[in-house]
Amino acid sequence: MSITLHIHATRETANKKVAREIAELIRAKPHAVLGLATGSTPIGVYEELVRLHHQEGLSFRQVCTFNLDEYQGIDLSHPESYWNFMHRHLFDHIDIPAANIHIPGTRVPSLELADYCKRYEELITVHGGIDYQILGIGRTGHIGFNEPGSPPDCRTRRILLDQLTREDAAPAFGDLDHVPTHAITMGCGTIMEARHIALLAFGTAKAAIVRKALRGPVSSQISASYLQNHEHTSFHLDHESASLL
Ligand code: GLP
Repeated sequence: MSITLHIHATRETANKKVAREIAELIRAKPHAVLGLATGSTPIGVYEELVRLHHQEGLSFRQVCTFNLDEYQGIDLSHPESYWNFMHRHLFDHIDIPAANIHIPGTRVPSLELADYCKRYEELITVHGGIDYQILGIGRTGHIGFNEPGSPPDCRTRRILLDQLTREDAAPAFGDLDHVPTHAITMGCGTIMEARHIALLAFGTAKAAIVRKALRGPVSSQISASYLQNHEHTSFHLDHESASLL
């Protein structure tokens, strides 16, 4: 098993390639299950999917989605909540029914966490599992919010965010003190069950972690390195993020 590497001339080429794969999947299987990611990286893929919806009639009516993660302790309406992000960049512009969208809540009470996370996993299973998972990568090597130390078989759960992850998010939240300390994230085991995975990473800031994820040992210190053991994972890079390979 090895990760398929695509080094694209531009980010736009990468975005179009991933969006086209998703469109082909949906056309072949209208009730496809998509695993979705947030962060600045996948925005271009979502823009292309919206374009395909408007200009080429791609319908999401029967598609079902599961987001990777969500911050804890902020309102859903907070501009940085992943619920808000997904609606702003994708869901408000396509024909997916609200009932088909799954994103972990932002204020899951501690006492309900275990049941809540178990239910999230069950819902993925009930819908037949994730057909196509989009991933970005954090500078700690996280996929979703699986920070260093996450075991390969971990499932959906609450996680303490790494200091580097919070620092990276600080500009969006105004300052570090406003960045949530915790999130709910699908686990590495959950992600690894997706049938196809596309990880996107752009820019020089991602070059070092892309190298570790692809070429380094498989290690719980870099959860993206687990993807080396997945049967159908592609990395979509630009020249900058691939510059240390
Ligand atoms: C957050 C998200 C990740 C994402 C990462 C990188 O931590 N939970 O899913 O991959 O940010 O974000 P960006 O794409 O903005 O670099």
